[in-house]
Amino acid sequence: MAASKKSVAPVESTTTWSGRFDEPVSELVQRYTASVDFDRRLADYDIRGSLAHARMLAARGIIGPDDLAAIELGLGRIQEEIHNGDFVWRLELEDVHLNIERRLTTLIGDAGKRLHTARSRNDQVATDVRLYLRASIDNIIGLIHAMQHALLDLAEKHVDTVMPGFTHLQVAQPVVFGHHLMAYFEMLKRDAERLSDCRKRVNKLPLGAAALAGTSYPIDRAMVARELDFDSVCENSLDAVSDRDFAIEFCAAAALVMTHLSRLSEELILWMSPSFGFIDLADRFCTGSSIMPQKKNPDVPELVRGKTGRINGHLVALLTLMKAQPLAYNKDNQEDKEPLFDTVDTLTDTLRIYADMLAGIRVNERAMRNTAMRGYATATDLADYLTKKGLPFREAHEAVAQAVRFAEKNRRDLSALTLPELQQFSPLIADDIFAMLTLDGSINSRNHVGGTAPPQVSAAIGRAREWLSSSSTPTVP
Ligand code: ARG
Repeated sequence: MAASKKSVAPVESTTTWSGRFDEPVSELVQRYTASVDFDRRLADYDIRGSLAHARMLAARGIIGPDDLAAIELGLGRIQEEIHNGDFVWRLELEDVHLNIERRLTTLIGDAGKRLHTARSRNDQVATDVRLYLRASIDNIIGLIHAMQHALLDLAEKHVDTVMPGFTHLQVAQPVVFGHHLMAYFEMLKRDAERLSDCRKRVNKLPLGAAALAGTSYPIDRAMVARELDFDSVCENSLDAVSDRDFAIEFCAAAALVMTHLSRLSEELILWMSPSFGFIDLADRFCTGSSIMPQKKNPDVPELVRGKTGRINGHLVALLTLMKAQPLAYNKDNQEDKEPLFDTVDTLTDTLRIYADMLAGIRVNERAMRNTAMRGYATATDLADYLTKKGLPFREAHEAVAQAVRFAEKNRRDLSALTLPELQQFSPLIADDIFAMLTLDGSINSRNHVGGTAPPQVSAAIGRAREWLSSSSTPTVP
């Protein structure tokens, strides 16, 4: 945003609406109230909306065919100027809408002045933001799918890789690494579903609400909605110009995506620390230390974790922006853009980087297995074994706790104890216990939908691939 400021031309005195005023606003007020520095990124959507509006005005006989032809030509030229970097953005013209309108009038004369008939910047900006957000959501859903593909590819390689599963960050029970990764697939699946649901409420047309009460011109809102690929129109003009729920919903969905990615990031950071040594990230996602030569720091996951705070902040900013706002449009709403834009940008970059980072993960299978071995991860299996032989679970739990104490004192794993040693804790223990006490025995026994047994994990990956190929991304530009 700072970079864009440079190319805004210096302040000039005439504004679009100055007719009613005795004195010009001060330079500071002009800067304070202007949004062109950041809302110029809506230019393409603003032009699309204006074209649809002008075509409707012409179809309804509100402007003539010559006016429409001139407007189409002029807006086409302006779009080119913007794309080529030749367009001069003027701070005194406040925002993207008035900048484009003024240039249009300079280019085509009176026809340009007729474009704003039956419209207000209030319904115009709401339309622009919705068009922008719809395109952003479609892009983001595509990026979530790409990351899910990367997760599946990695999970597929590790349906047999044993790792410790944790609760309280203490070794709990063994799982396979593929199963652990698939937990993140599920989170991202809900994220993609949430975003497509949010898209339904984004995809409604505010244009036609005008300033707040509708317009006295015989407009055709359905035609504009069709032209812009909106599903339908906003039903109430006051709500149409003042509603920002759709942006808040998006930011809430984005905050959840980031929350999920922050959890994965935290795990990657832990797993990469030499105390775990479970994985290594490709060098291109890490940095060294300027003072400690041995270090390889997981900067990218750390930044993802950090940027989650900023996205949560944007959500709270938008909620606070809307809190207690009276109907209908208030200038407060101009403040919706920077948090929204930054949420889209941050999430987009994070997802793009993540898919690539996952593809470059190297897994240290031996370290994962060794840690699972050291943590008495099969203690629950021993308790379940005793329960299945008739001991009430609470008593089984106590017997196993004693066995773990004994093993700990002797610095051995449960599976390394002899049968007579184990039998001290329960006479129900027999030779068949050893199959249960191994990591693989424990994992293979959890063989039901949602469990960590490798055939179940493979099946889950298969279902996930099917879901991915059937959930196509909507492709409206
Ligand atoms: N730049 C304004 C915004 O982003 C456009 C709408 C201005 N409307 C008004 N009545 N001043 O909200």
